[in-house]
Amino acid sequence: MIEIKNIKKSFGEKVILEDISAIMEAGKCNLIIGSSGSGKTVLTKCMVGLFKPNAGEITYSNENMLAMNDAERKLLRQQIGMLFQGSALFDSMTVEQNVMFPLEMFSKMNYAERKKRANEVLERVELKDANKKYPAEISGGMKKRVGIARAIVLNPKYLFCDEPNSGLDPQTSLVIDKLIKDLTREFNTTTIVVTHDMNSVMEIGDHIIYLYDGKKEWEGTNKEIIFNNSEKLNSFIFASEFLQDAKDMRMLEMKGKISNDRNMDDLLNSPTALDEDFK
Ligand SMILES: Nc1ncnc2c1ncn2[C@@H]1O[C@H](COP(=O)(O)OP(=O)(O)O)[C@@H](O)[C@H]1O
Ligand SMILES: [Mg+2]
Repeated sequence: MIEIKNIKKSFGEKVILEDISAIMEAGKCNLIIGSSGSGKTVLTKCMVGLFKPNAGEITYSNENMLAMNDAERKLLRQQIGMLFQGSALFDSMTVEQNVMFPLEMFSKMNYAERKKRANEVLERVELKDANKKYPAEISGGMKKRVGIARAIVLNPKYLFCDEPNSGLDPQTSLVIDKLIKDLTREFNTTTIVVTHDMNSVMEIGDHIIYLYDGKKEWEGTNKEIIFNNSEKLNSFIFASEFLQDAKDMRMLEMKGKISNDRNMDDLLNSPTALDEDFK
């Protein structure tokens, strides 16, 4: 679990984040959404310790990150896996070497152990046969999966993914989303996904934080987002008139369903109503 409390961040006079608080639970995909420039990247950089907030608290499993010394922060850093935007693979290394890299940096494993572990995670992301290929020889979706394999190779408790679907087609995006969700459940990681992909929001949004101009404008789940009352959020997610119409239709449909269910419940719970039927 990661908890952020009253995070503030400015660059010079410019306030970027204002008083952001949230709890991100283990085993869940916690999404940070918002339009470009709303502060998503700055918030995640504060969370992983790349930026120091001007005020506020960040705790990892109740340990205050901002109060940690260098050695403690280094240990924490090893529990954080990161999938960078654009995958950020080393072009001159094979897939297998890319995935072995964090093990060389942070583990005491020998070469054979590192190779074994790298191929284990490559198998998990269904890329075992591509282990000897170079990044230039594989597709965008495969590169993302290599990025994910590299992010999870150290068995992280926390997984950060910045725009995991950027540059992917909708079907490949679904595969990546499903993989991130499955890994989150399987290893009980606290997963943070920065995205503006509405498909991802609906597919994997266990917990969603919507940032608007550096403030937390809305928070909820993928089940709740469609019924939200925030004008700003609605114009963000239902950007086109077509989607706005689709939302209105869905709302009407749901309202109809709810009132039908209620009638049925009233009937079943009311002995007199049933009695009437038996007469
Ligand atoms: N290192 C920096 N120095 C100054 N301003 C920055 C820096 N990084 C980001 N910003 C500003 O912070 C705001 C939020 O940026 P960012 O978090 O990258 O937005 P996004 O939601 O698109 O990820 C933007 O106005 C951006 O210009
Ligand atoms: Mg960004």
